[in-house]
Amino acid sequence: MRVLVIGKGGREHALAQKISESRQLEKIWVAPGNPGMQQSGFECVAVEKTFDVLSFCKSELVDLVVLGPEGAILSDLKQTLENAGISCLAPIPEAAQLESSKVFCKKILSSAQVKTAAFEIAKDLESAQSLIVKHNFSKPLVIKADGLAQGKGVAVCESAERAFPEAQSLSSAYGFPLLFEECLIGKELSAFALCDGEDFVMLGTACDYKRITANPFSANTGGMGAYSPCDFISEADEKEISEIFRKTLKALKRNDTPFVGFLFAGLMLTAEGLYVLEYNVRMGDPETQALLPRIESDFLDLAVKAVQGRLKNQKVEFLPQESVHVVAVSGGYPQSEMQLGHPIKVPEEMLENAQIYFAGVAKKNESLINSGGRVLGITALADNRAQAREVAYQMIRKVEFSGRYFREDIAL
Ligand code: AMP
Ligand code: GLY
Repeated sequence: MRVLVIGKGGREHALAQKISESRQLEKIWVAPGNPGMQQSGFECVAVEKTFDVLSFCKSELVDLVVLGPEGAILSDLKQTLENAGISCLAPIPEAAQLESSKVFCKKILSSAQVKTAAFEIAKDLESAQSLIVKHNFSKPLVIKADGLAQGKGVAVCESAERAFPEAQSLSSAYGFPLLFEECLIGKELSAFALCDGEDFVMLGTACDYKRITANPFSANTGGMGAYSPCDFISEADEKEISEIFRKTLKALKRNDTPFVGFLFAGLMLTAEGLYVLEYNVRMGDPETQALLPRIESDFLDLAVKAVQGRLKNQKVEFLPQESVHVVAVSGGYPQSEMQLGHPIKVPEEMLENAQIYFAGVAKKNESLINSGGRVLGITALADNRAQAREVAYQMIRKVEFSGRYFREDIAL
């Protein structure tokens, strides 16, 4: 098989790595990828526009294209490639609304009879105000933008005084409708499935760290680390997660929007059981970098079966080890003023042996430099999480660049 992975972050590096372990693979490229992936042995191609990707796939006889980021998934790429007879592992845009419209997501969850926070929809500022007045604030009120907001579209408001300006600023940034949700109390986890439109296989669970420091009120980031599997769910919860995916896929099919691709459930384990907070129609970053190294099965084989609608009765084999992934970011991140352009030193033996995934890096005078917020991450696997954590931290400390920062409490 000749495979092209679309994307340039740590998630796509991990996807390319796992696919490259397949016995079915003849050749793999990443577009556009990054110089760090190149240094790790992947061929990166500088194509990004739909037409250029299509031309590349035709000239290189690519069999399968795997889309990483939501931007590519929501674009015309899948349709264009499939019109040309090239398989593409991604949902159709109508099914991708599961992530791009929270109202659509709620409609599917309700049809699927999957538990989610109770909600009401405000179509304008007036109805937003009356929903705030109606709420008694014995529990906070969660206000959400409907569309994609890169993690910035949610406000958890403890009081009406806070809720009014939040509703105003969310609506002026993202427009209406806004969702007003009950606030769920519990522990968050992420669960992942690979879906073929009807059937699916579970790819595992993970917990990620979104804030820049251990302070839960510190700035939101793209993700500072993760561990897998999630350590606070029971076997019954795992079965329930499978049921949630099964019911959601059925509801999507009934809605004439069958889902093919990676489905990522953001879940909250509450005293009343598991609730879906949101769905994403892609793998998580950095959860992918913690999840995929644990998978023993031939991942390319599963990906091909997903696009062919043949996942029924498939099983994924996992290594018994647990994984910890720690992300190193540029000084100043997540503010826009960052310390960029510094040479990155990665010990040679780590490039060969460690599970290091590159993201915001560029090349200058033959040396890798940091060029983005999240620069790279390292995954370690071990018999237990404490050991994996120790190894991941030992390794990330050996990677040096001026301004380098990482959280010290991942997987503690
Ligand atoms: P979302 O984009 O819907 O995943 O929301 C982003 C974050 O906001 C989640 O990861 C939660 O931490 C928080 N959040 C979203 N919805 C709720 C809710 N109904 N109750 C409590 N926290 C929530
Ligand atoms: N780690 C969360 C995400 O990828 O959206």
